[in-house]
Amino acid sequence: MEAGLEQAAASLAAGGVVAFPTETVYGLGGDARSTEAVSRIFEAKGRPSDNPLIVHLADPEALDGLAERVNEIERTLIDKFWPGPLTLVLPVRPDAVSPLVTAGLDTVAVRIPAHELARKLIAKSGCPIAAPSANRSGRPSPTLARHVMQDLDGRIDGVLDGGPTGVGLESTVVRVLDGAVHVLRPGGVTVEQLQEALGPEVPIAPANLTRNSGEAEGPRSPGMKYTHYAPRGEMLLITGSDPQHLINTAHRAADEARRAHRRVGVLAPAEHAAAYEDVADAVIVCGSLHDIHSAAQALYAALRECDERGLNFIVAEGFPEDGIGAALMNRLRKAAGGRELQV
Ligand code: TXA
Ligand code: MG
Repeated sequence: MEAGLEQAAASLAAGGVVAFPTETVYGLGGDARSTEAVSRIFEAKGRPSDNPLIVHLADPEALDGLAERVNEIERTLIDKFWPGPLTLVLPVRPDAVSPLVTAGLDTVAVRIPAHELARKLIAKSGCPIAAPSANRSGRPSPTLARHVMQDLDGRIDGVLDGGPTGVGLESTVVRVLDGAVHVLRPGGVTVEQLQEALGPEVPIAPANLTRNSGEAEGPRSPGMKYTHYAPRGEMLLITGSDPQHLINTAHRAADEARRAHRRVGVLAPAEHAAAYEDVADAVIVCGSLHDIHSAAQALYAALRECDERGLNFIVAEGFPEDGIGAALMNRLRKAAGGRELQV
């Protein structure tokens, strides 16, 4: 199952589907121009066909063959954030990629990953690489090659192992329309970073997807309507700005569930873990409060651990929502499927 760089590139060039590391999460790649390769991606993931894929490039020159035009704001974002965890939704050139990649839309999502191995792989394959996250649809995204194997072993042609991914959450997906930046999915590049790069005069509409808000205004990312990132157990998210109050409430919720004979897990930052030892079957540490990036990095592995430990009720502590915290909380809310207690 494990593949080397040369082997993985050759497989991609021949129409195969191979998982590879990026700085965000592992992706499942295939030649974006090949309908056969792309349909194998959808099939391996069990992904609904109306959810389009991101095309990964090794260098910005390749964008000319893919996108019809790039405006000034998009150009600034490209210069500033590529390679990196920012995906741009651009008008697609007719016949540049298989229609399956765009799910029939007139736009294509593109990014250049900031991961050595990923860029080498793409360059060597000689293809634009369509790559969704390399998980079965609905499961947490993979941040380790082992997670890819858990979900896709036997369904794909190989995994290129690059160790743990850096950011731990997916790229930020944006669409620029009428001089404004619409965040379709919060991710590795923060709204604060976007605003700083573009200056105060460019409006940025943050993702309108917190909670279970149904139809949001403005352009949307088809993928955001699906329940993603969910552990098998039921999750309750506790949010609030007073840490002690938050701990007390989460502790009570865990205690109640325990008394109702649930198999209870608590997902909490390292600093709070000890507070739950008496009420949880498992306390799963999700990074540190002092380093929100460590929490982002740890989240998906922590959600998978909830399943591995057979937990059927999980109480999760919320995190501050600035910076990468916005993406972290977006994923936690999705994992909780709207069950949130604000204290
Ligand atoms: O970090 C990432 O973005 C990872 C790595 C592998 O690059 N990829 C990833 O892909 O997260 P995926 O397929 O799991 O998520 C792609 C998201 C979905 O929400 C999809 O709906 C949206 O991008 N998307 C793709 N093409 C689009 C388009 N033309 N218009 C709007 N949204 C689009
Ligand atoms: Mg995904």
